[in-house]
Amino acid sequence: MTTVAVLVGSLRRESINRKFAESIDKLAGDRLTFNFVEIGDLPLYNDDLWQDPPASVTRLKREVEAADAVLFVTPEYNRSYSPAIKNAIDWGTRPWGKNSWEAKPAAIIGTSPGVTGGAAGQNALKGLVTVVDMVLMGQPEVYYAYNGEAFDENNNVVDESTKVFLERWIDRFTKWIARTSEPKTTAQPGPR
Ligand SMILES: Cc1cc2nc3c(=O)[nH]c(=O)nc-3n(C[C@H](O)[C@H](O)[C@H](O)COP(=O)(O)O)c2cc1C
Repeated sequence: MTTVAVLVGSLRRESINRKFAESIDKLAGDRLTFNFVEIGDLPLYNDDLWQDPPASVTRLKREVEAADAVLFVTPEYNRSYSPAIKNAIDWGTRPWGKNSWEAKPAAIIGTSPGVTGGAAGQNALKGLVTVVDMVLMGQPEVYYAYNGEAFDENNNVVDESTKVFLERWIDRFTKWIARTSEPKTTAQPGPR
């Protein structure tokens, strides 16, 4: 069983990015097991809080470290990615020397009602993901211009071309995780 810690950058209830991720989770079946990591209750990063770390922070680090891989599902906000994801990534890199993201196979996907499918937001996130030492899959890119009719009310993908597109991504990400995983020995320092 390959486990994926999934961070959805939108915190709103009716998020299309969350629905999109849930549909992919369903489509993947036994190939990938998605664990949706709560990031909406993380405080804004503050170094002082390490004196008595919030439960939300220790849970984030624990769930990321336990997973075989990480998936970021980001909305596009003003041609960039979600600040909730930036905040979660910052927490995960600390304390110094205990970077939870180190060597994790990772992917970035997302959707937007706009025709570019959130491409600018996803591309803005790529630099950060590699800086914190994750092993980011480059292809296939998933810039999905959201089409609600491609999914039913239970998050099943009902549109054939969307299914083919997402199946290919699931197949590649499953192989990427198998190919790039390395047993974690000691935690390495994150960037200063
Ligand atoms: C602050 C803000 C900025 C946005 N900027 C963009 C943008 O640059 N490009 C885009 O395609 N959509 C943009 N949108 C629209 C979002 O793509 C849309 O609200 C989408 O539904 C957000 O994802 P969610 O449904 O997962 O919350 C923006 C929305 C907000 C709230």
